[in-house]
Amino acid sequence: MTDAPALRARLVDVLRDDGGLTRDDLALAFATVPREVFLAEGFHDSDAGLLRPGDEDFLAGAYRNDALVTKLDNGRPVSSSSQPSLMALMIEELGVTAGMRVLEIGAGTGYNAALMSAVGADVTSVDVQPDVAARAAAALAAAGVTGARVRVGDGYLGEPAGAPYDRVMVTVGVTGVSPHWLAQLVPGGLMVAPVTHAGNNPVLRVWSQPADGRAAPGWPARADIWADGVCGAGFMAAAGPLGARYPWAHPAPVRGPAEIVPTLRLPARWRTALNGLRYHDLWFAIGAWDRRTTGAQFDGGTGCVLLDETRTGGAAIRADGAIVAAGPHAEDYATDAGILIDRWVDEGMPAIQQWRAAMVLAGDPEAPIYVPRDWSL
Ligand SMILES: C[S@@+](CC[C@H](N)C(=O)[O-])C[C@H]1O[C@@H](n2cnc3c(N)ncnc32)[C@H](O)[C@@H]1O
Repeated sequence: MTDAPALRARLVDVLRDDGGLTRDDLALAFATVPREVFLAEGFHDSDAGLLRPGDEDFLAGAYRNDALVTKLDNGRPVSSSSQPSLMALMIEELGVTAGMRVLEIGAGTGYNAALMSAVGADVTSVDVQPDVAARAAAALAAAGVTGARVRVGDGYLGEPAGAPYDRVMVTVGVTGVSPHWLAQLVPGGLMVAPVTHAGNNPVLRVWSQPADGRAAPGWPARADIWADGVCGAGFMAAAGPLGARYPWAHPAPVRGPAEIVPTLRLPARWRTALNGLRYHDLWFAIGAWDRRTTGAQFDGGTGCVLLDETRTGGAAIRADGAIVAAGPHAEDYATDAGILIDRWVDEGMPAIQQWRAAMVLAGDPEAPIYVPRDWSL
């Protein structure tokens, strides 16, 4: 299939089947916004290298339900078009509808801004990289989008000129939520953001105080804002204060992947392994209960690990519930991992959506961010 409208129609079917796309107006946006226009300088395909417009597999690749990397820096992805199913889910969870003013952090290719504009929102999108922002602005113009604009800057500061916003959409991995976004948001406005948690960037919904100042039922005590979980996800990390390490992280996030080579193996617990979504539910819960939890490599893949200070020891949990461990305290770590899995099972195997946390200011006092504190079910 080489015809763009047919590829778009097929993508809509895929997104509906996936479950994240339910709204007809958003389906129409996916069916009409030309993703390939936002990939005019090509994208990096793991098998085929850089695919450019005109290359045989370019158009089919542009409509895959995949994140497409559009810029590398020393081999590291620094800009992309996010996975369409994730964009659909985030737009729906954020409740972006016609007439809303939306601040997007991380313009990337501009495609997501174009989708939100196509459902009738007025979008201001910020990207920290001037060349990326220029490309996104050119793509929006080429696609005839008039309801979205791109600004260059550190998204930490938001974009005061376009405030107030009804919604904030964050499409880059952050360790917390900027107080500037809160200041630029209408009272009771909503944000979605992939916020660092246990070595991942699950998408959270972040709620601000409603206009009447009265907290909704169940609002955590003494919280200006609070968050609940939406779904597991991985995102590239934001530059600047949004990517700050927060003070109580253990192990401290460091560059480069950690890897454990197991010396101890405990058997599987489940005959059928958890699927990707459920594995992320388990990972999220273990991260909420134990601050040693992060993502690390083991057995040829990446997954949920209780990591020790050496970053080569600890215990990893596989999707079938098997525990593999390494290092001088392998047995202790394996025992702790087993207790955490039992706890998740005893709690009824809660999903990410069942968690909520008050958000508190933390990090650099010169550029603080709101981070989730004390997750509870
Ligand atoms: C995953 S891409 C965004 C995807 C985009 N929304 C799309 O649909 O094409 C993340 C973007 O965030 C940008 N970024 C990273 N740190 C940032 C920051 N502090 N402020 C604004 N943008 C940032 C990167 O330059 C990158 O282009």
